[in-house]
Amino acid sequence: MIRWINTDLFRDNLLAELPKELAPSAQWVFRKDYNQRERKLAKQIESFRGGIASLAANGTLTSMSSPMPGSFELDDEGRSQGAPLQEASVSAHAQTGVGATGGLLLRRLVDGLGMDHILELGTNTGMSGAYMLSAERRPHLTTVEGSAELCAVAAHCLGEQSSQFRQMNALFDEAIDTLVSEGARFDAVFVDGQHEEKATIHYAERVRPLLKPGGVLIFDDIYWSRGMLAA
Ligand SMILES: C[S@@+](CC[C@H](N)C(=O)[O-])C[C@H]1O[C@@H](n2cnc3c(N)ncnc32)[C@H](O)[C@@H]1O
Repeated sequence: MIRWINTDLFRDNLLAELPKELAPSAQWVFRKDYNQRERKLAKQIESFRGGIASLAANGTLTSMSSPMPGSFELDDEGRSQGAPLQEASVSAHAQTGVGATGGLLLRRLVDGLGMDHILELGTNTGMSGAYMLSAERRPHLTTVEGSAELCAVAAHCLGEQSSQFRQMNALFDEAIDTLVSEGARFDAVFVDGQHEEKATIHYAERVRPLLKPGGVLIFDDIYWSRGMLAA
């Protein structure tokens, strides 16, 4: 059976129910109502993709791919070693990461939810981090990436927006252990790497002690696979 939803009514009811600070984020889902500042920022951040080639010495960059569905494994200490680093062309890497639509949604969420300290699992070239750092709230970002080459590229991308970031070139589990031992606390954790059902649940549980009361967990690519959605 097909059910038609009146999206205008749905949007209006949703906006009426949500705290008003979240209205710009919710509105964005229905209509890309860019303001001038957002247009300018998106143009600037997206232009970074074109310059990535000049930052990669031999035309390739390494990254850790997501595990095949069902292949996620933990060692005896309950930690994941991630996928082996794989080389791919700079042009392939220039296309990864959030685009302006997702990036500006993240930016609106930073301001709407009042995020001052954010943890990101999966820096890649720094695109999502740059959008979050560009928020009016001027948050502090801690971002984790297993590929040293990508960390070097991301340093430029993030540095164009703010100096308030910490890069950790580590496995997600190693970084979480370090942050827990430091007593770090975050308003939000953005999980954007190792897209697999068990990995998603694993990291959701592992970062829980790092969240402040009322903190928020955000997952990218939740419709990536049935497993991700199930998680
Ligand atoms: C989808 S990309 C992140 C995209 C980025 N958040 C953005 O939107 O611009 C995922 C990144 O996570 C890294 N990664 C995946 N598994 C990892 C792990 N277990 N430890 C550290 N880094 C990992 C990969 O190397 C890759 O660069």
